[in-house]
Amino acid sequence: MLYRSILRPLLFRLPPETAHELALHSLAMMLGTRWARHAAASRYMRSPFGELRRFSLLFKNPVGIAAGFDKNGAAAQALCALGFGFVEVGSVTNQPQPGNPRPRLFRLPQDQALINRAGFNNEGAARIAERLRQHPTDCVLGINIGKSRAVPLEEAAEDYLACFDKIYDVADYVVVNVSSPNTPNLRKLQSAEALSSLLYALQKRNRELAEKRAGREAVPMLVKIAPDLISVEIEEIVRVAQETKIAGIIATNTTTERKGLRTPKRNIESFGEGGLSGAPLRSRSTEVVAALYRMTRGSMPIIGVGGIFTAEDAWEKICAGACLVQLYTGFIYQGPRVAREINEGLARILEREGLRSLDEAVGSRAKEFSEGMSHD
Ligand SMILES: Cc1cc2nc3c(=O)[nH]c(=O)nc-3n(C[C@H](O)[C@H](O)[C@H](O)COP(=O)(O)O)c2cc1C
Repeated sequence: MLYRSILRPLLFRLPPETAHELALHSLAMMLGTRWARHAAASRYMRSPFGELRRFSLLFKNPVGIAAGFDKNGAAAQALCALGFGFVEVGSVTNQPQPGNPRPRLFRLPQDQALINRAGFNNEGAARIAERLRQHPTDCVLGINIGKSRAVPLEEAAEDYLACFDKIYDVADYVVVNVSSPNTPNLRKLQSAEALSSLLYALQKRNRELAEKRAGREAVPMLVKIAPDLISVEIEEIVRVAQETKIAGIIATNTTTERKGLRTPKRNIESFGEGGLSGAPLRSRSTEVVAALYRMTRGSMPIIGVGGIFTAEDAWEKICAGACLVQLYTGFIYQGPRVAREINEGLARILEREGLRSLDEAVGSRAKEFSEGMSHD
């Protein structure tokens, strides 16, 4: 295939972030056109998956591009045109910020993985919202919000609220990211007490803003969690998610673990700190999805993300309990056809399994996948 045999070897000669920027710009230029809009609209008109209604939104297909790929919403429509059913822009912060110094993205080809410590480099909520307002997408648009680095943890809620105010009206759904390992202390916001007050505040604002826009519903709000949590911590998050009536949970972000990698240890050490994504994260994130599905008894939508490269990987997440899936690292290794390949593969798997809709498969193997869950 053209990408894997020609383009990828060329792109992999460039520093990872340069290659990413080049790919993103080319995508935005080639695919942000009226032709692309038409192509995206006509594709998957008759979905082989049954009606995919999730938290009151209608999805063309269950495969989304995960947060971090298009941090500034510069290529959102192009990504829809490539066959993604939804695009999650961000993480966006209230103020623009440069992120960590480069290099901050590293490839681990032997492991089909990446390590990154980007640190929420983005143009800020106001600018990104304006761009998305001017360039609407024709697939579902999520906006993922994070804490500004300069803001202390105690003032996190006000910072997230200010960011939410700027983006809520362009987003089909909003994700509260409390799980990036690259903003100091961010993951402390996953503790029950901190998460509860953050989500209560955001949901209150969400309802108030909806009331002002008479007739409009509150925006579905989801929370994104880390893979490096133990069972009791996940239980607490589920309790808070249910109490604050959020729309769903995204599992998972990148891991700080480095276990079982093929890449030589000295290389890994030379990369330094950051979150690991891709194939080595796959089974752990599946386990977290399955645990969430069992803890919520299937009552809360879960978006499964971590190590999805193929339709079989996506199927694993769906059977574990995900009603939608996302990927980032799989795009880097598999190329721009990845969404289409996975969707076509999923349609074949449904046929193979004799199922008429994806919903029949969601959570069907949750018990099996959550069995390895650690309780300490
Ligand atoms: C370079 C890079 C940047 C990322 N930035 C963000 C981000 O800003 N916000 C976020 O919620 N997740 C971010 N992620 C995490 C991904 O959205 C995803 O949860 C994770 O990479 C696991 O999926 P994957 O194995 O398909 O890559 C980033 C991942 C990578 C590789």
